[in-house]
Amino acid sequence: MLAVLCPKGAAAPDALTALDSLLGGAIGRAWARGSFTGKRDDVLHLSGGATGPERVILVGMGDAADFSLALKRAAQLAGRRANAATVRSIAVLVPAGLDVRGVEQVIVGASMGAWEYRELKTPPTEPRTPLESIAVLVDDEAAAADGLASGEAIAAGYALARRLQMMPGNLCTPDTLADAGRDIAARHGLEVTVLGRREMESLRMGSLLCVAQGTPQEPRLVALEYKGAGDARPIVLAGKGVCFDTGGISIKPAPGMEWMKYDMSGAAGVLGAMEAIARLGLPVNVVGLIGAVTNMPSGTAINPGDVVQAANGTFIEIVNTDAEGRLVLADVLHYAKKYDPVAVIDAATLTGAVVIGLGNSLMGVLGTDPALVRDVLAAGARAAEPGWELPLWPDYEEQIKSDTADIKNTGGRAAGTITAALFLKVFADGMPWVHLDVAGTAYSETDLVSLPKGPTGRPVGTFVEFVRARIS
Ligand code: BES
Ligand code: MN
Ligand code: ZN
Repeated sequence: MLAVLCPKGAAAPDALTALDSLLGGAIGRAWARGSFTGKRDDVLHLSGGATGPERVILVGMGDAADFSLALKRAAQLAGRRANAATVRSIAVLVPAGLDVRGVEQVIVGASMGAWEYRELKTPPTEPRTPLESIAVLVDDEAAAADGLASGEAIAAGYALARRLQMMPGNLCTPDTLADAGRDIAARHGLEVTVLGRREMESLRMGSLLCVAQGTPQEPRLVALEYKGAGDARPIVLAGKGVCFDTGGISIKPAPGMEWMKYDMSGAAGVLGAMEAIARLGLPVNVVGLIGAVTNMPSGTAINPGDVVQAANGTFIEIVNTDAEGRLVLADVLHYAKKYDPVAVIDAATLTGAVVIGLGNSLMGVLGTDPALVRDVLAAGARAAEPGWELPLWPDYEEQIKSDTADIKNTGGRAAGTITAALFLKVFADGMPWVHLDVAGTAYSETDLVSLPKGPTGRPVGTFVEFVRARIS
């Protein structure tokens, strides 16, 4: 299959003249009749000519105000259509003048579009042919080779994250996330440390552990250390790994609860980024930290009103056991301090409020260091994972003051994403830190046209772009 990514335009691009004559003028006619004009998400399927590609699809990019976003989306749509058509190989013809990063983005997008999770479907009688190869047609051969290599590395990171996200809670447990970490470490020569309940007890991680106390499943804190730059201070990427969030004793309503298998998406994003960074062999030190637990109600579960002490000594009143992500990240962020990091970025499906405020296209970005926030937003934009800053407004600290303890784990409905981040700030104290609330963007409950409903792998790309830009 040949996929042609077309910006919106009044007429077919000149570059398609030869192809159009091969197809008997079908492209020109489609444009003249207005049946395809390059509008965003427009797709025109054509049958190939006597020679050349068997099938041709034109994919609209729209007016491409944000070129990176439009390119990735169109490439995803091309990959998705190729996969649906069960073709073995796809070549993508891109707008003229695409650089290495553009080629990379097309490889990443097309791979993501073709990605599927079939592990839990019994094989059909007709074996499906997975897409085996993706080519990008560009003039610049060096750009093509480099973009292909880095695109494959990043696509592998997204695929790893999305697989873990997609796995149901009974298959993706804290141990599964730990094993995924061990596997990345073994394949790329990273150092891996896995802590269990006992080790976390001796570190007095009462905040993370209270979430895990409603289930016999062993909680896991996983540290993956990638060393590409000797003994330079590392960047820490931290992720919320709640393998299933029932809400605990403050139990969630039954409708839609199945989506809470995605509550480990922050952790999946960290693991996917570590996979990509290791494959890219970036000259930088990065530590991936994940706090993996399952939030269950039971006779041993934490109750509203209970008070626990976090590893940094803070007493926390649990007023809602469903605000568990911040409890997990509290101890993970404190643990990050031992690495003396230059920057800490955490990703978490932390609040429903971020979905109300920013919807499903933008992640919430909150941080203590304005330059770092700016860098993370820029990284997200390059990766076609846009974010929007929300303020860590100090007035709202009032909302998480507790009568019995130092702080409480919820601040009510008002500014819910901000009060959750203000809670985390207590534990990130002293480190340059940015928090990504990806509750609205890490997975989708509706079909996204370019990707099906389910895991998006965000923010793998943001993490990778951020780390890349830090190479001095
Ligand atoms: N995992 C949820 C947040 C979430 C909601 C993720 C919707 C994805 C989609 C989180 O643990 C949670 O339950 N947050 C509560 C906090 C509240 C109790 C203060 C929420 O947002 O309702
Ligand atoms: Mn919850
Ligand atoms: Zn949660």
